[in-house]
Amino acid sequence: MQISGSTAIVTGGASGLGEATVRALHAKGAKVVIFDMNAKGGEAVAAELGENVVFAEVNVTDEASVAAGVAKAVEAFGSLSICVNCAGIATAKKTLGRDGAHELDLFAKTIDINLVGSFNVLRLAAAEMARNEPNEDGERGVIVNTASVAAFDGQKGQAAYAASKGGIAAMSLPVARDLAYNGIRCNAIAPGLFMTPMLEGLGEEVCVELAKDVVFPKRLGKPAEYAQLAAFLVEAPYMNGETVRLDGGIRLP
Ligand SMILES: NC(=O)c1ccc[n+]([C@@H]2O[C@H](COP(=O)([O-])OP(=O)(O)OC[C@H]3O[C@@H](n4cnc5c(N)ncnc54)[C@H](O)[C@@H]3O)[C@@H](O)[C@H]2O)c1
Repeated sequence: MQISGSTAIVTGGASGLGEATVRALHAKGAKVVIFDMNAKGGEAVAAELGENVVFAEVNVTDEASVAAGVAKAVEAFGSLSICVNCAGIATAKKTLGRDGAHELDLFAKTIDINLVGSFNVLRLAAAEMARNEPNEDGERGVIVNTASVAAFDGQKGQAAYAASKGGIAAMSLPVARDLAYNGIRCNAIAPGLFMTPMLEGLGEEVCVELAKDVVFPKRLGKPAEYAQLAAFLVEAPYMNGETVRLDGGIRLP
């Protein structure tokens, strides 16, 4: 799918990996709609990048909110052909801790935002993409979801987060199969450790410690490197049904 001239929605586009993706797609000539609940951050990115980027205050877990966001994207730019799902939360809680069992509502909330939210956005985006005229490869749209290396090597305290990301990784293939008839591809990126507000909150000392396990280059990932792979997955017609690790070779202990 050619990025230049296409319209993309990027969830979580107000911050971190999503924001970097908004910038990269915009730089390659896309029209971009930021879906985020962080109105201040999302409006600021849109205002900085100009008329080809608009912000929509969207809660990815809410059906009506996402439907309104998709309608806003089509109203602003005419059609929709790229969907990158970056909205998510990181939760950490042991299954059984000193203070008792993992709260069920925290587990459910993590699954709801990270997994159900991504599916909610991609299904409504796909319904819109299916209306496009296919390009010369028969493509009408492309979806990129965000898993995590926690989908494969989840750590202590990551039962909920790893389960949510495992779901993202697991649905790359069936979603790709479901949408093949419509000419829509679906892939996921499983990032390792990236320097975003999500990780910055842990403090520099913890980040340096985390980077020790990266094989090469021995540092945390840069959000622009996530965006580079997201753009590749959009552009590469033969990439489909896959979850790609982007992690400097790290395997979490
Ligand atoms: N940073 C990392 O090291 C890392 C590693 C692996 C996976 N990931 C995943 O990458 C994605 C982006 O992470 P990030 O580090 O950029 O985090 P971030 O906190 O910088 O950005 C996440 C964005 O999602 C938005 N968001 C949260 N809940 C939402 C909702 N219900 N509706 C709409 N927007 C919502 C937030 O407002 C925020 O702007 C997440 O899914 C995260 O799990 C991050």
